[in-house]
Amino acid sequence: MTTDYDLITTEYQRSKLQPWRRYAEGSLLFDLAGDLSGKKVLDLACGEGFYTRMIRLRGATRVMGVDLSAGMIDLARQQEASQPTGIDYRIHDVCDLALDETFDLVMAAYLLNYASSAGALLAMCQSIARHLRPGGRFVTVNNNPGYTGDGDTMRHYQFCRDKAGEYEGAPVDWRFFNDDGSFCTVTNYHLSIQTHEQALSLAGMGNITWHDPLIPPEGLEALGPDYWKLLKKHKPVIGLECQRC
Ligand SMILES: C[S@@+](CC[C@H](N)C(=O)[O-])C[C@H]1O[C@@H](n2cnc3c(N)ncnc32)[C@H](O)[C@@H]1O
Repeated sequence: MTTDYDLITTEYQRSKLQPWRRYAEGSLLFDLAGDLSGKKVLDLACGEGFYTRMIRLRGATRVMGVDLSAGMIDLARQQEASQPTGIDYRIHDVCDLALDETFDLVMAAYLLNYASSAGALLAMCQSIARHLRPGGRFVTVNNNPGYTGDGDTMRHYQFCRDKAGEYEGAPVDWRFFNDDGSFCTVTNYHLSIQTHEQALSLAGMGNITWHDPLIPPEGLEALGPDYWKLLKKHKPVIGLECQRC
């Protein structure tokens, strides 16, 4: 198990190609982000830039991606070098990030589930808040603390949950499969919805709203309604938006 993405860069990169990511996860994230034209956007835990590049393509004018993993940022920079878009990538831990600029929007797909305690989550939320202009928004997709599936329920979507606990800070292991049979396993942590809301409020964020995954019409058309049944029923992923007070 790992939280070190340097060890799984390409396996994780390939796992993003599964169709549920594009249609359910990505649609939810960009629906929450809204119109990005002309915006300054900070993508925290950007990984190899899967969503960072989409943010830029959707019209954001200043885009920065930050990730702890040098390997993931290396992959992101390679893609930037082959197709330059002006994205600024940095290697840094979000918790003690202190940039000398603020953004209209902070995005952070699957950052918060790396906090293993209320204190660690607060440090992430404080970093998010200090990089937002007053009134700026934070949007994310994250593991759903209220996920109702068992270990193999999501195998249909090429991932499963190998280990889970409901107590605060419980390790949760996820395994992501690729079509060639390769897989990678990552360890996240369980913190309740209430702990998230407390950390966001303490960090100075308001208007906190949670959102279920969206299946857009093109996703229904491409894969059929049966494909989506388990994901809609058990909701492994949840969206979150809030605003800096
Ligand atoms: C599941 S990946 C998501 C990557 C990207 N957001 C995406 O959706 O494709 C989680 C990323 O969070 C990064 N990460 C975890 N904890 C972090 C921290 N404290 N600061 C910065 N990045 C972190 C990992 O290195 C990894 O690249």
